[in-house]
Amino acid sequence: MCGIVGYIGNKKAVDIILKGLSYLEYRGYDSAGVALIKKDKVNIFKAPGKLNNLCSIISKENEENVNANAGIGHTRWATHGLPTETNAHPHTCNCKSLTIVHNGIIENYKDLKPNLEAKGCKFQSQTDTEVAAHLIAQEFETHKDLLKAVQSAVKKLKGAYAFCVMHKSMPDRIIAARKNAPLIIGVGDGENFIASDIPAIIEYTKKAIYLSDNQVAEVKTDSIKIYDENDELVANKVENLPFEPIALSKMGYKHFMLKEIHEQPDVVRNVLFGKLHDAEAEVVLDSVRLNKEQLKKINRIQIIACGTSLHAGLVGKYVIEELTKIPVDVEASSEYIYRNTIADENTLVIGISQSGETADTITAIKQVKEKNSHVLIITNRKDSAMARLADSLLPINAGIEVSVAATKSYMAQLLSVYLFAIFLAQNTENADENALQKIKKELLTLPSKLEIILNDTKNIKEIAKKYSSSKNFIFIARGINYPSALEGALKLKEISYINATGYPAGELKHGPIAMLDETMPVLAILNEGIVYDKVLSNCEEAKARQAKLIGVTNFVDEKHKALFDDIAIIPEISDIVSPALNIVILQLLAYHISEYLGKDVDQPRNLAKSVTVE
Ligand code: F6R
Repeated sequence: MCGIVGYIGNKKAVDIILKGLSYLEYRGYDSAGVALIKKDKVNIFKAPGKLNNLCSIISKENEENVNANAGIGHTRWATHGLPTETNAHPHTCNCKSLTIVHNGIIENYKDLKPNLEAKGCKFQSQTDTEVAAHLIAQEFETHKDLLKAVQSAVKKLKGAYAFCVMHKSMPDRIIAARKNAPLIIGVGDGENFIASDIPAIIEYTKKAIYLSDNQVAEVKTDSIKIYDENDELVANKVENLPFEPIALSKMGYKHFMLKEIHEQPDVVRNVLFGKLHDAEAEVVLDSVRLNKEQLKKINRIQIIACGTSLHAGLVGKYVIEELTKIPVDVEASSEYIYRNTIADENTLVIGISQSGETADTITAIKQVKEKNSHVLIITNRKDSAMARLADSLLPINAGIEVSVAATKSYMAQLLSVYLFAIFLAQNTENADENALQKIKKELLTLPSKLEIILNDTKNIKEIAKKYSSSKNFIFIARGINYPSALEGALKLKEISYINATGYPAGELKHGPIAMLDETMPVLAILNEGIVYDKVLSNCEEAKARQAKLIGVTNFVDEKHKALFDDIAIIPEISDIVSPALNIVILQLLAYHISEYLGKDVDQPRNLAKSVTVE
């Protein structure tokens, strides 16, 4: 979603801001802008589309106009109004003395606007942000101080915001504020940075202050002062940022997505490290703060998540129910909220999120915390808002994921869910030791099996090429691989814009079969196990309607070979662990189809890496 970068120091601000914004491009955006402040002059540059458009406008500017040591920049993901130059940030007040960049949504902007208009404020854009610009400018008239103006204005704002504000008459400072949207202040030597996410500033500093909700910061070249919601000065809590700049390199791969797919064997090793030593040993999850007695009392589990994380949760349902016999409900966070969900102190609520900043999931977590349920967060960002809300935290350690389409984080979520299911089973009365040992053994073999798939991708590339001109795709599976079908379809539609749908294979005959003909590829995931023959029958039904059939399987009987137009084989694996291998085939298929179609693989249209609005 939207990105913010601010800089104040002695270097050329525009270079640092544009580079920082480029490191936030992966989050998804549709326009960009920068405001630069120097003595008593503010220059604003904005452009719709990619950052390159903004860069080329700036490169043609007179050096005098862009040579400033302080500024704020933004990449906008449109929420209110089209992605035009006018709607791009920064926004300003009538006299253009004040500039603001903002992430989030000001929910009461329509209530505030008439009053501001009555005071003479002229609105140029359709954005909610411009209301904040005029409101702060009005407060500035009263207080004659930017910090006080922001402190006063934020008390009138409802919704979510992370913003940076500058004023022409106070060029030595940037004021930053946050509520329900991430913002960090990078601490430098004779310079300071502000960003909505770490990649924007990690090249310059590894030290940062995470602003908390309702805090306002006054950032100058050589000082950072943070104020709480009562306008009291609070002590600066400087933390070390968890990433290395190297994580933002493609390391020779054409796209981040391909690099991240290939990182998965190591991601699995990382997740297992320190938690699962060998098949005979117990799973150790130190960060789960539930003792044996509390674990035994859990009689219900609810998993809440969105998108790909939701699919990891669905796999979790099968694994947890199979190993612990505790009933598990899985629900999209956006559906879980705004109704009276049933949970109590014996319910364990698991929130799964790559970013830890997804607004719907945060709202759902806040809602359920009031019911005294224990909240376990499984996330890739232990510095995120969700991590801070957690009663127990299970970091997945996948490393930064740059491609908008989640791949390695899904793998790490799956593995974390398996580990948690085993951990829970270890602590229940009737754990089946043999079943647990078998799964642990298989989890330990995953890195080498993933390497087998990733070391030879020729077949999957050919399949991708063959089907890249398809307009539609159906993915089918049953049981624990039904979520794999959903995730495979989601990956394909996200990055290739092909209309792909995932179905439980048994549902095909209840409606979707009407769509089948020779133009419709059906991808079936079928693993040796309890549903193998059933999926095979569903494949026969599809074939009888002349659909093109692609099988993804660990086993194919000679007598069935002719049924499939194309087959991708994965290494031998039990049904329960197979989602971790099947998904890699589907990720590669989506990647190569998108590549053949010449789409923007890492930054698909309309999508954002971290969805911070509800
Ligand atoms: C799909 C994808 C999205 C996210 C979803 C939730 O490739 O990335 O569907 O999974 O927006 O995001 P997180 O996991 O950050 O809560």
